[in-house]
Amino acid sequence: MNTTSNVTPGMSTTPGTDTTSSTVGVVGLGTMGSRIAARLLDAGHPVHATNRTRAKAQPLIERGLVWQDTPRAVAAAADVVLSMVTDDAALDGVTGGPDGILAGLAPGQDYVDMSSVSPQASAAVAERVRRLGGWMLDAPVSGSVPQAEQGTLAIMVGGDEAAFHRVQPLLAQLGRPVTHVGGNGDGVLLKLAINISLAVQTLAFSEGLLLAERGGIAPGVAAHVMATSSIGSPMLAARVPLLLDLPRDAWFDVALMHKDIRLALHQAQHLRVTLPAAAAADDTLAAAEGIGYAHRDIAALHEVLDRLNTPARRDEPVGVR
Ligand SMILES: NC(=O)c1ccc[n+]([C@@H]2O[C@H](COP(=O)([O-])OP(=O)(O)OC[C@H]3O[C@@H](n4cnc5c(N)ncnc54)[C@H](OP(=O)(O)O)[C@@H]3O)[C@@H](O)[C@H]2O)c1
Repeated sequence: MNTTSNVTPGMSTTPGTDTTSSTVGVVGLGTMGSRIAARLLDAGHPVHATNRTRAKAQPLIERGLVWQDTPRAVAAAADVVLSMVTDDAALDGVTGGPDGILAGLAPGQDYVDMSSVSPQASAAVAERVRRLGGWMLDAPVSGSVPQAEQGTLAIMVGGDEAAFHRVQPLLAQLGRPVTHVGGNGDGVLLKLAINISLAVQTLAFSEGLLLAERGGIAPGVAAHVMATSSIGSPMLAARVPLLLDLPRDAWFDVALMHKDIRLALHQAQHLRVTLPAAAAADDTLAAAEGIGYAHRDIAALHEVLDRLNTPARRDEPVGVR
């Protein structure tokens, strides 16, 4: 570790993250991380990045991204570090150990994790960073591929307020609104709260669409009328084309959605509240994974309900329809 220091917490050496001259580190170049890195490159930032699977970085390297072999090297090369990985295990994988982000952070450096993870896991990493003299914020996002590409993700930030103000101009290049919502872990708690509606709205819309279809209404007509009625939302409007024609590549897959619902239910247990709609979504997401839809977009819930309500033909492979 090169980060044990006598730097006073609150003092940052991070130079102007509001300028495109600041070097940004990105750890995790999956569906969301790759688009975040692309936006930062387009904005003129030097971007140093790494990913467990190097091949995914190649298109970005061709656009100017500087590859680093480890999260530690990314942190050491950057003024501010962002990470965007799957879950608690992945966060642990990229932050801990001799090659992890924490091993490369300099005193006073800002680190922003944008993954959707448990509030407890996020707060635990933040505490380790604080003990090293740096600052970690949780800044998960709401929105998917289109919003990541357009820089319109909603970003909710938990952690130290002064650190928030330092990184806010950088995050504003990735989304809006960018809102400080509380202490470490509060950003991800709010993100989980939002995603209850993502799962439940998608499930309820899929149920309504199936009912209309089974009654003989053309799916395109039913989906259009439903999405433009008062129950429509920007999320549903964006997903209708995917519900009607399920794409091979997911924006946000069933497994990630199920991870968030399980995290929300876990928090609910902890806070002693019941979440009946989230519990119903949990069951259907588990059923979807069970019949082969784990890595299809959550728009697959429409097809999943259709399959669950239709006896499968013997010759029909699961997950392919
Ligand atoms: N997709 C969306 O619409 C969306 C929207 C809002 C929030 N989110 C959240 O954003 C986060 C990322 O989502 P995504 O869609 O970008 O997922 P993704 O495409 O599956 O990418 C996941 C990233 O995490 C890395 N990773 C996974 N396990 C790892 C481990 N053990 N060690 C190191 N790296 C690991 C992956 O590396 P490899 O490339 O090597 O697999 C990849 O870079 C998730 O928490 C998700 O819930 C997603």
